[in-house]
Amino acid sequence: MDDEQLARRRDEAVAEAIADVRRIEAELGVTRQGVEAIRDRLIELSAQRELFPPAHFPAPGDDDAETSYMYRLAQDDDDRFALYAQASHGHVTTPPHNHTTWAVVVGHAGNELNRFYKRTDDGVRQTGEHMVEAGTGVAMLPDDLHSIHIDADALNFHCYGLALERLDSREYFHEREGRWKHFAATSGIREGRPGLFC
Ligand SMILES: [Fe+2]
Repeated sequence: MDDEQLARRRDEAVAEAIADVRRIEAELGVTRQGVEAIRDRLIELSAQRELFPPAHFPAPGDDDAETSYMYRLAQDDDDRFALYAQASHGHVTTPPHNHTTWAVVVGHAGNELNRFYKRTDDGVRQTGEHMVEAGTGVAMLPDDLHSIHIDADALNFHCYGLALERLDSREYFHEREGRWKHFAATSGIREGRPGLFC
């Protein structure tokens, strides 16, 4: 199978998974049970390892200013149900933040430590953590808080109820300043769908 055939097969498998994710959300709603069912379906997708060769999702190099690339694998015409492959290089970390939509992270290669938090009067307090790796994932409701900590090259899947370009109200806690701030909407996403490479 050549690269183009593989990309088409991947696109079909992604489309089947996202169809199930849409159905799960419709049936179970944006609930803990719903997002955990979405996580489990995306773990199944990630387990089709032959569809996601690392060469199709290169991470930034040593000289690159960025430490991770986001490849868009799926997104509805109304920007709902966005799935990305995140290829990261070296050390990647985020502050505690929410998403303002449901969010799921599923492992594929490498490790991504997710820490979870609750809000306190003066910031956040950690409530738990989960090491995301192949075969596991985490699922969050719109107000749930997490941070990401990656120490070595990794490829993971991130899925959101609404595309990252549309999320301009996500809050993060700036530890040094001791206050909540807003993330800018993410840009610079790379197209990972066949026929749409750019
Ligand atoms: Fe996040």
